[in-house]
Amino acid sequence: MSKIWFVSSNEHKYGEARRILARMGMGISHHRASLPEVQSHSLEEIALAKAASARSLVGGAVLVEDDGLFIDSLKGFPGPYSSYVFDTIGNAGILSLVRGDRTASFRSVVAYADDSRTAAFKGEVRGRIADAIRGSGWGYDPVFIPDGAGGTFAQIDKDQLSHRGEALAAFARWYGDGRPPLDASPA
Ligand code: IMP
Repeated sequence: MSKIWFVSSNEHKYGEARRILARMGMGISHHRASLPEVQSHSLEEIALAKAASARSLVGGAVLVEDDGLFIDSLKGFPGPYSSYVFDTIGNAGILSLVRGDRTASFRSVVAYADDSRTAAFKGEVRGRIADAIRGSGWGYDPVFIPDGAGGTFAQIDKDQLSHRGEALAAFARWYGDGRPPLDASPA
């Protein structure tokens, strides 16, 4: 297997991706870089644009990821703008906006590109927004409770059931046998 560079400025994302893929027998290396994010309503479009930037920066085989927290009662907000919203109003701001229906989903799109192939893979976990900050994880982890779990992402072993895990599993299956699974979206 040739080296795959996971290009991201986010150590947490890389750490999770490394552990998740290691369990599937795949290794990745970290290239720390902040990639430009195109403005789009589509995580897939953003991830594919990031993959193209990563290719011009690093060359070789690259893997990138874009995520979003989609809150049903806020019509999917913050969605593709999750990073900006986290940096501005943060988890306290999210908690103050959610009233009544607390259901939400966390979505991930990972995009892979090398000299001859480009493909994107989706993962989604349904859950709900906690009533208060619970635990001390990164990003939105302390406010997102996945369905079936007894606590927020910050309070459980999220690698087993995360949006990132699902997208990376689809990628690993495709990378292993060269065929896109039905739930993936090869570009
Ligand atoms: P982006 O994919 O880097 O644009 O991330 C979108 C936002 O969601 C950022 O604020 C991240 O910190 C946050 N985020 C992405 N994935 C996770 C996660 O697994 N847990 C908690 N926050 C996350």
